[in-house]
Amino acid sequence: MKGLLGTAVLLIPALALGEPGTSGTVVGKKIDTFTLRDYRGAERSLQEFSRGKVVVVAFLGTECPLAKQYGHRLAELAKEFAPRNVVFLAIDSNQQDSISAISQYARAAGIEFPILRDIGNSIADRFGARRTPEVFVLDEQQVIRYCGRIDDQYGIGFVRTRPGRRDLAAAVEELLAGKPVSVPATQAPGCFIGRVRQDVKSSEVTYSKHIAPILQNRCVECHHAGAIAPFSLTTYEETIGWVDTIREVIREQRMPPWHASPEYGNFVNDSRLPERDKKLIYDWIDNGAPEGDPKDLPRTIQLAEGWRIPRPDLVVSIPKPYQVPSQGTVPYEFVVVDPGFKEDKWVQAAEIRPSNRGVVHHVLVFVQPPGGEHVLEHGPKGQRGFITHWLTGMVPGSRPMILPPGQARRIPASSRLLFQIHYTVNGAPQSDRTSLGLVFADPKTVRKEVTTEMVVNPKLLIPPQTADQEVEASDTMSEDTLVLTLTPHTHVRGKAFRYEAIYPDGKHEILLDVPHYDFNWQNTYVLSEPKLLPKGTRLHCIAHYDNSKSNPSNPDPDALVRWGEQTWEEMMIGYYEAMPAVQDLLKDPPRVAAHVPSTRNALDPELKRLAEHALASQKDFDAFASALRKVVPSVDRVCVSTYSKGKIHVEFASYPGEVAQRFAGTGFQADGRGFMLVAYALFDEYSVIGDLKQARGFDMSYFSKALSSSAHAPVAVEGKPGSLNLWSKQKDAFEVKIRPLVESVAQALGGGK
Ligand code: HEC
Repeated sequence: MKGLLGTAVLLIPALALGEPGTSGTVVGKKIDTFTLRDYRGAERSLQEFSRGKVVVVAFLGTECPLAKQYGHRLAELAKEFAPRNVVFLAIDSNQQDSISAISQYARAAGIEFPILRDIGNSIADRFGARRTPEVFVLDEQQVIRYCGRIDDQYGIGFVRTRPGRRDLAAAVEELLAGKPVSVPATQAPGCFIGRVRQDVKSSEVTYSKHIAPILQNRCVECHHAGAIAPFSLTTYEETIGWVDTIREVIREQRMPPWHASPEYGNFVNDSRLPERDKKLIYDWIDNGAPEGDPKDLPRTIQLAEGWRIPRPDLVVSIPKPYQVPSQGTVPYEFVVVDPGFKEDKWVQAAEIRPSNRGVVHHVLVFVQPPGGEHVLEHGPKGQRGFITHWLTGMVPGSRPMILPPGQARRIPASSRLLFQIHYTVNGAPQSDRTSLGLVFADPKTVRKEVTTEMVVNPKLLIPPQTADQEVEASDTMSEDTLVLTLTPHTHVRGKAFRYEAIYPDGKHEILLDVPHYDFNWQNTYVLSEPKLLPKGTRLHCIAHYDNSKSNPSNPDPDALVRWGEQTWEEMMIGYYEAMPAVQDLLKDPPRVAAHVPSTRNALDPELKRLAEHALASQKDFDAFASALRKVVPSVDRVCVSTYSKGKIHVEFASYPGEVAQRFAGTGFQADGRGFMLVAYALFDEYSVIGDLKQARGFDMSYFSKALSSSAHAPVAVEGKPGSLNLWSKQKDAFEVKIRPLVESVAQALGGGK
């Protein structure tokens, strides 16, 4: 519990805070000695530290994200310079930081030097310190010779892989060498010091009456104990020390985090503050942020405790707690869990719950169909996301997935669950065990299958030193589709993202525009109304990337950047959640996925016989292919491919039709990475691509040179997963109604799956 320190509201004149950069003017100022108590209660004076030594004075706060990140670094620097007559001391001038919070902070960061409490912030005023963390270097005469940041590794909205300039260390080195400090002042990013304030008694706007309701509606969801944000904003005492920083984050539109341009689309989770709320907040702060009458407080809202979905039918946890280090960046953690599903499961609601929310930035859970793990093992690093279906995610501020009755997501039998967890450090070693709660729907009630689809460009190529590289991708709706949500995804070089619909009549509509994409906030934009994209509509995504050195998060501006899972590689994915507009699984069972038996046709006995013997020789396969073309006249190429040990293998191929170019014939073998046929081998699902040039997700340029559409049904050949693939020169050649026939042929061929 945090509270005001003692009798904190000393009435001193409100400070005229300068604009950023003015702290540089204190360089050359002599600091007279002062005495403060440390958090253990002992009195310490500046004099006792200096005595012919260089003194580093660091202003810190216990909850500010940057002050947390830099605590450990200061502890290390103090050790590094201790043998050279340099002493460190810290000052906490925040009115909101309690003694126990300070001691916890010191312990977590490994800080052994004293942290002094500056109640009333008079010492912060003397230094002109404005933010945490902010450091001042005093020479032997107690004259300020450097002030500003510690280094440039962490800033607002970015993390560099390593510091570019170690400003504090450089200044101390120069001072020790008797040289002038070459860069005497830098800007310290971070939070404002929580100064005491003088309220204006006549102010109309009070915390209790006007501000608390705004914070409850817009901030508390993340800013409460145990939630994603680093501090709470649930009471006046918790809020008052933050007011200057709150004004800044609202002005700069950093909080609440929302990145969509207001010009396009309506979203249920739009979190932007209305102008009148902003004005109330500014007026309140300008008038000294008075509390007002607690009787005016709104009723406290129910904060999430336990599950936010109905009681889960199953809770799946990662097998063992993950140990999060105290600092640095943690690569994405991938954990595969087998929930042991013997049959298909329909998911009505899902919620991801980390055990330690403070260090979990986001979690995505994917469904890995049986066999999908081979790709994890054999594919290149970047490939593992491919052979998976999206199930659910938890990103900062997101709500759990709860689908309306009649809609559900399917997890095929024997699937495994792949957790992708992004841990962030907070200055102290931590541990987390994330869980997923699932509520199942009765399959007899499910009318529509909700899936997450993606528009991707895996061939993206971002040249070195390029400030604005555009990358596009699109996907054409093969049936009338209702789009529910949009989630743009790139890595740290992504800077803008847009979705547009290009309707069959040529009309364009922008569905979502994110002009300043921020990797730290993987927002899902939930459309106020499901958007109908009629068959033939092209969903077109345009992303922009900054691979120049002016992008501080850029790990290497000299790299030619390709697709990959790691943050130094890139991605371009326009996720969208959708369901077919006309689907009714209860009335139209053939549309249930392929593995449901009983929907297969009785085959013509001759075709059945030819199919059963097709894999005996090329001659048999050719005979089978010609017979197949008699019942499906649009087939120009037929092949059976299998996938094993990371390789895709064409068992047999035949051309019953005339095709300008032949390729990937019988016996063809290739590394499976990026190959669409791998997905068809592994997904236990019948699939159709109406236009190979617009195919989503995979590189189809290989096939699209001579062919225009395809259909794929799962088969098993000698135990290896595979698919029967039909290809045609015409677009949209394979109608929905031929599906049972193709599946029956596949069954006869390889015994089906
Ligand atoms: C979706 C969750 C979420 C919402 C809603 C939210 N915040 Fe935050 N806030 C965060 C997180 C997470 C951080 C820490 C960011 C970091 O680590 O850099 C943060 C940090 C801050 C900071 C510290 C400064 C900084 O840049 O780190 C302030 C001040 C703040 N929030 C104020 C607010 C206010 C005021 C509101 C409501 C008007 C609000 N926040 C709404 C999640 C949220």
